[in-house]
Amino acid sequence: MSRLRRVSKLQELKSGARALDSNRSIVMIDARVARLPGVKSWLAAFPFRRVLRAGEDLKTLASFQREVEFWQRRWGAKLNRDFSVIAIGGGSVGDFAGFVASVYWRGLRLVHVPSTWLAALDSAHGGKTALNVGGAKNQIGSFHPAEEVILVRELLAAQPPARAVEARGELLKMALLDGGAWAKPVRAAYERELRSAAHGNGAKEALANGALGTAPNWEKLIWKSLPSVVEAKLRVVRRDPREQSGERRILNLGHTWGHVLEATHNWPHGRCVELGLHFADEYFGSDFCDETHRSALRVLPRLPRAQKTRARVTRAEALQRLARDKKRSGAEHVVMIQARGWGKVRRVRVELQSILDFAAAEGWLK
Ligand SMILES: NC(=O)c1ccc[n+]([C@@H]2O[C@H](COP(=O)([O-])OP(=O)(O)OC[C@H]3O[C@@H](n4cnc5c(N)ncnc54)[C@H](O)[C@@H]3O)[C@@H](O)[C@H]2O)c1
Ligand SMILES: [Zn+2]
Repeated sequence: MSRLRRVSKLQELKSGARALDSNRSIVMIDARVARLPGVKSWLAAFPFRRVLRAGEDLKTLASFQREVEFWQRRWGAKLNRDFSVIAIGGGSVGDFAGFVASVYWRGLRLVHVPSTWLAALDSAHGGKTALNVGGAKNQIGSFHPAEEVILVRELLAAQPPARAVEARGELLKMALLDGGAWAKPVRAAYERELRSAAHGNGAKEALANGALGTAPNWEKLIWKSLPSVVEAKLRVVRRDPREQSGERRILNLGHTWGHVLEATHNWPHGRCVELGLHFADEYFGSDFCDETHRSALRVLPRLPRAQKTRARVTRAEALQRLARDKKRSGAEHVVMIQARGWGKVRRVRVELQSILDFAAAEGWLK
């Protein structure tokens, strides 16, 4: 399972771990990150490097083929099984580089250096890699945990500040799932913010655009919480590393409705998860549900109305995405995750129809 390191600058990674030996590493780096000050000179020391354009188009079979053919053509005999892949970028570069590393010569060692908050919070340390096929996301993949995950503050701090607010849904999710002492400041900051927004102290426009919150505060809070978030996720992953027992599914808290929003609006994943957490929280806490669910208390403060209104989708849009979740669960039900309090989470099977009826009754549908 992955080790975690935190450094402030990339230059601090000059030596140390064998996996970072510049003559035995293939660096696969996001083009935007490669242009950052301090990165260029560091990168120059690595003769085997690939600068990649981030995004969903990178995660395709065509670019996989191009990549491995390039390695063979340009580096062929110079490579050997002792090489490591160092993936530096957001989730798309991480998924792609991780996949290549997992199958090239049946597996090269992998180091992740996530450069987006989302990747640092969620994708770099779960061991999952993925490619898209025919426009459908993550259809091919493997489990290939990184030997090491390195968090570099200067890379993460180079993102536009708003990214921290967009990604905080994943922070909130892990705080809800784990409920440890580290989650308290996250919970407090979020509650403070939603309460003040609900009382009209937040700028209406910013709220409607989902830019609720002050970015620098969230950047600080995410950076501070990252080691605990990673540890909390690894605790879950260790119990079900290859997603066989189903335990790992609790990491999907907030994702049922989150995916509906993501597919419809094309908003950032973390933002959709944040709204999806509210959806799940309302669903399980509402009177609509049966006796067992009715007793559950809501754990999140109320979502400002403007955010919910803006997030509305049509019934057909919701049905399309939920039907896929139902198919994946292999039953007549969709599996939703219920947080019955901070650190108290369980899986619940829910009728698809009841999700749709609830969404209509509670103003989540157009
Ligand atoms: N494997 C997993 O467990 C897992 C989990 C969640 C998401 N994902 C995947 O992650 C991807 C989304 O991740 P993402 O949001 O990081 O997207 P991304 O990799 O597409 O990066 C988003 C944008 O940020 C830019 N960027 C990256 N680092 C930057 C930096 N330091 N400063 C400025 N700009 C920077 C990129 O160039 C890109 O334009 C999706 O493909 C999703 O499927 C995987
Ligand atoms: Zn997620």
